[in-house]
Amino acid sequence: TTIVCVAGARPNYMKIKPVMDALEARGAHVVLVHTGQHYDEAMNGVFFRDLGLRPPDRFLGVGSGSHAEQTGRVMTAFEPLLAEIAPDAVVVVGDVNSTLACALVTAKAGPLLAHVEAGLRSRDWSMPEEVNRVATDRVSDYLLAPSPDAVANLRAEGYRPDQVHLVGNVMIDTLLANLDRARGSDVLTRYGLTPGEYGLVTLHRPANVDDPHVLGGLLKALGEIAARLPLVLPVHPRAAGKLADLGVPGGVRLVPPAGYLDFIALQDRARIVLTDSGGVQEETTALGVPCVTLRDNTERPVTVEEGTNVLAGRDPERVVAVAEAVLHRPPAPRRPELWDGRAGERIADLLLAGGTARTRRRPT
Ligand code: UD1
Ligand code: UDP
Repeated sequence: TTIVCVAGARPNYMKIKPVMDALEARGAHVVLVHTGQHYDEAMNGVFFRDLGLRPPDRFLGVGSGSHAEQTGRVMTAFEPLLAEIAPDAVVVVGDVNSTLACALVTAKAGPLLAHVEAGLRSRDWSMPEEVNRVATDRVSDYLLAPSPDAVANLRAEGYRPDQVHLVGNVMIDTLLANLDRARGSDVLTRYGLTPGEYGLVTLHRPANVDDPHVLGGLLKALGEIAARLPLVLPVHPRAAGKLADLGVPGGVRLVPPAGYLDFIALQDRARIVLTDSGGVQEETTALGVPCVTLRDNTERPVTVEEGTNVLAGRDPERVVAVAEAVLHRPPAPRRPELWDGRAGERIADLLLAGGTARTRRRPT
């Protein structure tokens, strides 16, 4: 059985790795295709080293561009490659443009398509990721859901029970597999941080960083929080220029994007995390670290209902009030069902059961 695994952007690497490992352990021939959506050393190369991910077998080198340019370039490059490799199945993860592009090509080319992280819904159609999620699910044969809310969303959209599988969270597989190594990182010493006495911040959603008025308000809120607790902010390239233009309040330290092990170490020892990342909401829940999400909604409600996540929106006063409440009384976490380090194994078992090519489950 030949299976193409697709990765292209920072949050993809930690999701595809446990799936690849489990497929290969069961004897499948895996071809890793990297689209090149992210390409900086700090957004890409460091993850291959930190995760022990082998170099990509094929590299599409699409780079940055508008949504249509990036999605179109991935599709144009992926189509002939898929014809050449002729795999039994293609696995895509998450909700980035590379995910949707490879899903659309696969759906028309013939191999089975598996979507890891199916069924997450923010119901916020201003997010490009929401479009990518819904459209990818629609053309997938295997809808591999990380949590019961995702299963419920898919059932409500009319997918049949045999198309939807609750498999757990692959990102948490990778977190648990690497936690001991991450705890060996010297990143806190390098940044002069004391465990439990700093906050960690990430910002990269277009709705937060593209509008200087919104970003300015968030920086004001961070400045107020930083008057009590030093904050460290590894800067995503989308936000870099904009943060520099606006100027950052004292107490907020900008650092380059962190490698995986360093970033897990920074989360693990933080007193609080403030973020608009999807993955970071999940990792803080698994680590039991308080998380304040700088958005009005989340496609990952299990992190609020069972984990440590609180939605604060982007109004500066509300963000400060929520952060203060969380610092005063941190939420008691529970790790969601099947976030147990074995999601990759469940996915591989499903995909290889009875031979992939014979069980098309595509929605009718
Ligand atoms: C993308 C995903 C987003 C995900 C995020 C993870 C889409 C629509 N968005 O957003 O869902 O949460 O990745 O980090 O797929 N850039 C660099 N170096 C790089 C990559 C990007 O400088 O290695 C800069 C470029 O100026 C580029 C901008 O960042 O235009 C945005 O990159 P892009 O991949 O379009 O979207 P992200 O904001 O990274
Ligand atoms: N991450 C990292 N370094 C950073 C910021 C994030 O290694 O400076 C990791 C984080 O631990 C998680 C993943 O990147 O595993 C989340 O990716 P990101 O926030 O870019 O995207 P999203 O999850 O929002 O799509």
